[in-house]
Amino acid sequence: MTDNKGNHKLDPHYQKAKREGYRARSAYKLLDIQKRYNIFKRAFKILDLGCAPGSWLQVTKKFAEDNIIKYNDQYYHRDNYIILGVDIKNVSPIEKVDILRMDFTEPIFQNKITSYFDGKIDLILSDASVNKSGNKFTDHLKQIHLCYAILELAKIHLKYKGVLVMKTFQGSDYDSLIRTFKPEFRILKTYKPASSKKRSNEIYLVGLQKK
Ligand SMILES: C[S@@+](CC[C@H](N)C(=O)[O-])C[C@H]1O[C@@H](n2cnc3c(N)ncnc32)[C@H](O)[C@@H]1O
Repeated sequence: MTDNKGNHKLDPHYQKAKREGYRARSAYKLLDIQKRYNIFKRAFKILDLGCAPGSWLQVTKKFAEDNIIKYNDQYYHRDNYIILGVDIKNVSPIEKVDILRMDFTEPIFQNKITSYFDGKIDLILSDASVNKSGNKFTDHLKQIHLCYAILELAKIHLKYKGVLVMKTFQGSDYDSLIRTFKPEFRILKTYKPASSKKRSNEIYLVGLQKK
């Protein structure tokens, strides 16, 4: 909800985020996705692409911390978690979370991932979105281009049976992105969180159980 000056401070999700200490209202989108698909189950090595200002990192840290205790059994578990966030923008520090300031589509980022995570990643999150120009068509195409780069990254660095959550925008090239995404995972879900703004064409692709 915004007032007639476009002031988002009347937005209930914005208010809730402020009250609950989240840096952005997008925290609730990730919480919605978690509630539905349990994406954080046994996730200890997590990469968050496009993480500024850091609300997904805040949510991620909470689940990763819980996982250390919750999944301390004979199956896949870790005594510590590794969380890496990356963004072009500056992100205020979060204790026990590493944050890189760079463009994750740059080839050098691949080397950073390899040296940072000791092995493959359990969960890759991307709420990354291109700078909106106001032209829905070109914004859509740019976002789709970004999504292909993220998918390539996941093909290399996400573990077998790992999970990828990625934001995209619906439009002309959406179906072909889905066709490329689908064969890489056993299950592909599309999800529009309740907290997404109604007029927005954003949608999240949730790839479960990477092949
Ligand atoms: C909607 S915000 C993410 C919000 C975040 N999930 C949170 O909850 O705080 C999208 C971010 O993606 C980042 N981004 C887009 N393309 C990027 C790229 N190629 N490399 C790094 N960051 C990128 C933008 O700088 C922006 O901060």
